[in-house]
Amino acid sequence: MLNSVSISNKINKFNYTINNISGDKSLSIRWALMASQAVGISKCFNILNSEDVNNTIASLKKLGIKIKKKKNYCEIFGKGLNGFSYKNNTIINAGNSGTFARLIMGVLASSKNAVIIKGDKSLSSRDFGRVIKPLNLFGVKINSKKNKLPIKIRGNNFLRPINYFEEKGSAQVKSCILLSALNTFGETTIKCKKSRDHTEKLFKYLNLPVKINKNKNFEIIKIKGKKQYKGFDYKIPGDISSASFFIALTLLANKSKILLKNININKSRTGILDILKKMNAKIKLKNKKIYKGEPVADISISSASKLKAINCPTSYNSRCIDEFLIIFLICAKAKGVSYFKNLKELRNKESNRLKISINFLKMIGIKVVSKSNNLKIYGNPDLKLKKSYIIKNFKKDHRVFMMSCVAALTLGGKWKIFDKDSINSSFPKFLKVLKNIGAQIN
Ligand code: S3P
Repeated sequence: MLNSVSISNKINKFNYTINNISGDKSLSIRWALMASQAVGISKCFNILNSEDVNNTIASLKKLGIKIKKKKNYCEIFGKGLNGFSYKNNTIINAGNSGTFARLIMGVLASSKNAVIIKGDKSLSSRDFGRVIKPLNLFGVKINSKKNKLPIKIRGNNFLRPINYFEEKGSAQVKSCILLSALNTFGETTIKCKKSRDHTEKLFKYLNLPVKINKNKNFEIIKIKGKKQYKGFDYKIPGDISSASFFIALTLLANKSKILLKNININKSRTGILDILKKMNAKIKLKNKKIYKGEPVADISISSASKLKAINCPTSYNSRCIDEFLIIFLICAKAKGVSYFKNLKELRNKESNRLKISINFLKMIGIKVVSKSNNLKIYGNPDLKLKKSYIIKNFKKDHRVFMMSCVAALTLGGKWKIFDKDSINSSFPKFLKVLKNIGAQIN
């Protein structure tokens, strides 16, 4: 079967409500990991049904955790901190998931039998030095070639707490350290650049001894280890990263509206909303509430014909790290020149998203200037495409595929977009939801 889609019609004039976009990926993986370390049963509704989460669950099962996946919920029978039971040199497969691979290393830090972590081609080309460095300081032994997967990790039960400066603004690195510290006697201190804070919020909800001091640019997190906690139930809210493709689709279409219900609006994830508001988008948040420490709301958005360029503050970067591809596409249709700085981390995602964005924008006739890790996008509100476009997506990046579909449905032209299977890592329902709204996709 062909692993591509063809799009040659624009979508316009829709008014649609998405009740359940799909569960948040970061929270689904964190819930599963934390539930595996809890004492007793945890139950989770609306867990994301995607390859990244399924690889998480399959790996935890290989590490000796009983997990039942029912139609409406998932149950994990946790065996407490360091409760894994598995044979030496057990192999687990993280697939495409950087989040699972890096966070499980924190959990395995105190586990004495060796585990070999492997991943797909894209994940195997990504840097793991960023988590190997702090884990070595805890006292964990790790073997790898050039800090890449496959990695062999052999933990131990005599870890020493660390004092660490996390300077990349990576939530995966921070969370890996937090999970390792949870199973280490004594107090670990992390000074870190701000990044998504789901792990800390979950720790607080579970009454784990974590203290956070925030200032403008950094946070100091202190965590004391070895406190056991009980199983807990959870209902995963919608994923703002998946929602962002529909936000962009609506903004760039004509005379359309969308309501996205029950989306996680954690401040460390809503950079895209703040950027779009500054660009003149009409976005409203309704039914705001806090669910187990995480803010949730319905997001409503209408098409905008007069978008203006943005000078994006670098403090927003980590708050929209997974949304840059789609934000750049919106900037292509905005009036004026948009500026982005310090985008180095964008090169280290499922693909080099900075390079891919630059090539993509040039391909659709948008002037871009890029020096080191900064980007200028010269928007064209009259952009209308008529040619044929083929998107090869060599690294099978799910977000490159979804961004390309939004471009095809809103800018015109004839498109063939490859690697539709890539959506299985984060948002398997993506094409189905698009078709429900009225998109013509073959
Ligand atoms: C994630 C953190 C981010 C993000 C990724 C999910 C997480 O990565 O890009 O998709 O769940 O912690 P970094 O921590 O590498 O920035």
